[in-house]
Amino acid sequence: MRTIAVIARKGGSGKSTVAVHLALAAHMRGRKVLLADTDAQRSASQVLKGRRGAGPELAETSGAKLFTLQLASIRADVDLMVVDTPAVVEDEISHAIVAADLCLLVIRPTFLDLAAAIQTSEIVRRLRKPALVVLNQAPSPRAGVETPSVKRALEALKLLRLPVIPTILRARISYQAAFETGRSVEELDPPAEAGREAADLWAFVEGFLFGRAVTERTG
Ligand SMILES: Nc1ncnc2c1ncn2[C@@H]1O[C@H](COP(=O)(O)OP(=O)(O)O)[C@@H](O)[C@H]1O
Ligand SMILES: [Mg+2]
Repeated sequence: MRTIAVIARKGGSGKSTVAVHLALAAHMRGRKVLLADTDAQRSASQVLKGRRGAGPELAETSGAKLFTLQLASIRADVDLMVVDTPAVVEDEISHAIVAADLCLLVIRPTFLDLAAAIQTSEIVRRLRKPALVVLNQAPSPRAGVETPSVKRALEALKLLRLPVIPTILRARISYQAAFETGRSVEELDPPAEAGREAADLWAFVEGFLFGRAVTERTG
């Protein structure tokens, strides 16, 4: 089993959006998935509860219970646990980072998000966990060129030595629309442009988490 912690010291950056999309992407590709919601707001839970038909399993829990939940999930043959976290409760975030094989920092290309990323990256480094940035709610490129805000964010993240996942999630209404019915943007009909982003994001994360495991086993 692999565990992803989705974190950011900033509310509204898109943690729950990314957590639910990754959980759904893995579920749709046949993996057994558990979404552990450690945010008292229960945003991710509300989305998944509104879903019709099969979906990831859901645990409304807290950081302190993650270890027990991990042990139970391993016994239940869960392939992937995705932990959604609150923005401000330090303890909850630390528990999630400790439990994680991979931390995903969800950041918008704004000054305040980047300032918060400095704190988050310090916790992740202290706990010696691999971390990748998901740039979210980014404006789309104009005439094929990234906007100044995205360029600045990418430069700042380079200075912070935080690797950024090449798939950037753009600000798109379809992310909000899909959640009204508990779905991923990949499941919208007609297909939304965002569907490709969500699929690419999962492909990258899956490669990071499971690709390496295959090499370990065969090599
Ligand atoms: N890429 C995106 N495009 C458009 N809206 C988004 C995107 N990501 C998140 N949102 C919206 O922004 C708001 C905050 O997102 P959410 O995932 O709840 O953030 P967090 O969990 O970090 O507080 C929600 O209304 C969500 O639908
Ligand atoms: Mg949230």
